[in-house]
Amino acid sequence: MMTGQTLEQKLIAKAETAHQLTKMEIVHLLQAVGAEDDLAKAADRVRQIFVGDGVHLRGLIEFSNICRQDCMYCGLRRDNHKIERYRLTADEIVRLAQKAKGYGYQTVVLQSGEDLYFTAERLAEIIRRIKSMDLAVTLSVGERSFDEYKLWREAGADRYLLRIETTDQALYESLDPGMSYENRVRCLMDLRALGYEVGTGTLVGLPGQSVTSIAEDILFYQQLDADMVGIGPLIPNPDTPLGKADKGDFHLTRRMVSLLRLLLPEANIPATTAMETMVPRGRELILASGANVVMPNVTEGDSRRKYALYPGKICVADTPAQCRSCMGGRIKAMGRYVASDKGFRHHRQVQQERS
Ligand code: 5AD
Ligand code: FES
Repeated sequence: MMTGQTLEQKLIAKAETAHQLTKMEIVHLLQAVGAEDDLAKAADRVRQIFVGDGVHLRGLIEFSNICRQDCMYCGLRRDNHKIERYRLTADEIVRLAQKAKGYGYQTVVLQSGEDLYFTAERLAEIIRRIKSMDLAVTLSVGERSFDEYKLWREAGADRYLLRIETTDQALYESLDPGMSYENRVRCLMDLRALGYEVGTGTLVGLPGQSVTSIAEDILFYQQLDADMVGIGPLIPNPDTPLGKADKGDFHLTRRMVSLLRLLLPEANIPATTAMETMVPRGRELILASGANVVMPNVTEGDSRRKYALYPGKICVADTPAQCRSCMGGRIKAMGRYVASDKGFRHHRQVQQERS
């Protein structure tokens, strides 16, 4: 070891080469206020080696804000009567996917509240129609049964996003009333068993969430071998019980993104909308701190505004075309490029076989 290195620099160097840290070491770096630039530089090198300079754009279609769940932080919760609810028709969803294809997106993410109007068969038919356009399909529609996930997989769905939000079971169950942590994990395991690329993630800054539990989230993602990990800070929504909570710490969230890249080097990691809602140009900063994915919104008209998870969401007044050209320009200005493939996870073994 070089002399003169701080403990933080030593831990970052270890993470960069071994891609493993103990829980205590992760906690130390999560708490290392001021270390974010060193963490980001190391994460950016690992990002370059493992997933390259291409940034994958996924077109996000928010097709219904109707939700049967009641999460304390989320504007779509069923007890929020202030929000105007909407649900797109199958034809509208397919048309948005067609437009997303026209903007050059290779993946569409179909996201909604937990809206049971979309039965497994209804959603399967939409997936089949979109798959016929040669797009990758990511689903993000919450907790369903193994058989429903299976039907969608057979219909052609490629990936599934389901954040665990927190691996602290007691905290999870207090903030997501009526939901069980065990069932959430069951969903992730089912999705994995069905051959989906599985995306999950943490909501950073939940009241009562400890740094140790965030470190445990990272170890959980390693254990799950998550293909994608998306995280963002809590942005208190005044129309929810957590309206007066403190917002999540942007710098802690950024340190966590970099740690995720160091410890899950192959994963797809998005620069999330919540990061930029909190800090202007936040997505560029996160793309330079280990991330390699952006999910621009392709929802149109009033629905963009109505999909109000939290206040101040960016791009609500922009059109999908504006977001596409805006992100394309910003990515190029960073010396990166918009990837032209579908952006499936790179497996290290495959890379080694190729080289
Ligand atoms: N602030 C930040 N993120 C939120 N989400 C829901 N509500 C909020 C909020 N108030 C996140 C959750 C969910 C994702 C779709 O949005 O983590 O998984
Ligand atoms: Fe929407 Fe920049 S990404 S306007």
